[in-house]
Amino acid sequence: MKHALLEKLRKNPNHISGEDLSRSFKISRSAIWKHIQELKKDGYDILAVPHLGYKLENSPDTLLPEEIQFDLRTTFIGKKVYFFETTTSTMDVAFNLGLDRASEGTVVCAEVQTKARGRLGRSWVSFKKKGIYFSVLLRPSLLPNETPKLTLLSAVAVVQAIKEITGLEAHIKWPNDILIDDKKVGGILTELDAETDAVKFVVIGIGINANVTKSAVPSHATSLKIECGREVSRVELTKEILRRIEALYIEFQKEGFHPIIERWRELSSTLGKRVRVTCHKEKVEGEALDVDMDGGLLIRKDSGFMEKIYTGDVTRLR
Ligand code: BTN
Repeated sequence: MKHALLEKLRKNPNHISGEDLSRSFKISRSAIWKHIQELKKDGYDILAVPHLGYKLENSPDTLLPEEIQFDLRTTFIGKKVYFFETTTSTMDVAFNLGLDRASEGTVVCAEVQTKARGRLGRSWVSFKKKGIYFSVLLRPSLLPNETPKLTLLSAVAVVQAIKEITGLEAHIKWPNDILIDDKKVGGILTELDAETDAVKFVVIGIGINANVTKSAVPSHATSLKIECGREVSRVELTKEILRRIEALYIEFQKEGFHPIIERWRELSSTLGKRVRVTCHKEKVEGEALDVDMDGGLLIRKDSGFMEKIYTGDVTRLR
């Protein structure tokens, strides 16, 4: 009901009377008033003028299903969106939905997470109402060892969407860091439920420092607002990321991984650089030559030997 009422207000640039609304929804005027109050509580700025009626002045920049789904224009991603003011981690919620047979493309957003996680067991800091935090549930026909491809695909989607919405040129540090001017602005976490030879589902988690202020981020990190000098619409950016993920995912299913990896290469800040990759206590140093079709990083060591790395932290040496 709330959703339908919002749609009606959106379509109507002028005031619409309580009587008209009550007639179209076949509910009382006081019921309409109650729904309007609920929308206001969600952050919708609705003007109520005596004798004229209601008018939607502004929508909140909150990752509400009503906002994400409005004009999203995807075929399956975001058909179902869950929103939490606070949750432990959108990864946990999406994973449980995956176990409960939720459909492919389900999205879970949160304003703040109390136990958000990053790669390699690290924690991830959420800045309430300042960042973008969501997870997407996918059900790809892939082998478990192929799922890193979805991390690379999502990184391409995030960089493309940042460019589209803010004009900023972001890059990807292998495998999943989104950087602007060598400072981290976002990250991607991929988790899966699988048997040895089949993936049941994958959860892609995306975190972006959107409107976080300079004093709040550590010196090796940044935010979109710091970089472009203005507030970024979290709703518009989230929608654009979802559109791009869907488009790349469909392309991947139709044409294989080649076109995706080509784009990843163009957007990479790692390839062609001298790097040190640290994984637990192991360190590999050399030139980052390429990523292969599994998403592994190929390093040419000083000895001339090639080594393929599947996980670790990359430091650029020069
Ligand atoms: C990383 O840089 O290591 C990945 C960070 C991923 C953070 C996002 S925020 C939304 C989702 N929920 C989480 O708990 N983690 C991911």
